[in-house]
Amino acid sequence: MLLEPGERTTTEEQQHQRITAILSQANQTILLAENTEKPVGFVAGLGGPCRRNRHCAHLVMGVLQASSGQGVGQSLLVELEKWARGCNVRRLELTVMAHNARAIRLYEKVGFVEEGIKRHALVVDGRPVDEICMAKLIDA
Ligand SMILES: CC(C)(COP(=O)(O)OP(=O)(O)OC[C@H]1O[C@@H](n2cnc3c(N)ncnc32)[C@H](O)[C@@H]1OP(=O)(O)O)[C@@H](O)C(=O)NCCC(=O)NCCS
Repeated sequence: MLLEPGERTTTEEQQHQRITAILSQANQTILLAENTEKPVGFVAGLGGPCRRNRHCAHLVMGVLQASSGQGVGQSLLVELEKWARGCNVRRLELTVMAHNARAIRLYEKVGFVEEGIKRHALVVDGRPVDEICMAKLIDA
């Protein structure tokens, strides 16, 4: 997660507008994982705005701590890939903090490969943290 606790200032109305804008684009989506009571995870695929990068979607995801380690993340990525195939998105890409072993394990398991390292891309608790760039090409 990029934002730290208390850093998000978006109002509910602003968030609603953002989500509506995302869902109005053919190459963007947000998928939710739900148990019987409430959402437990999400993945967003955010495709590029130009002809040259509209086949390429950046993904962001999160699963509630209480529901992690139960395959929710993997299911979300499987569904995101189905969505990508259906709307001509041919490349899924992401960045992940280098110490996030759980996320990296999940991404590798579903076929993402490391493409490079953004050294000291973030500062967390006052310390520089590397980010790993990963991507998966979707066959036609
Ligand atoms: C990363 C995250 C999305 C994974 O979701 P999840 O539902 O827990 O994922 P899954 O249960 O489908 O799979 C997790 C895999 O990591 C493995 N794993 C769990 N803890 C691990 C650890 N400490 N080190 C390495 N692998 C670990 C699990 O065993 C599982 O692999 P397996 O099926 O081969 O056993 C979720 O933990 C999360 O939201 N974390 C906080 C936010 C975040 O990091 N988002 C991603 C930012 S790029």
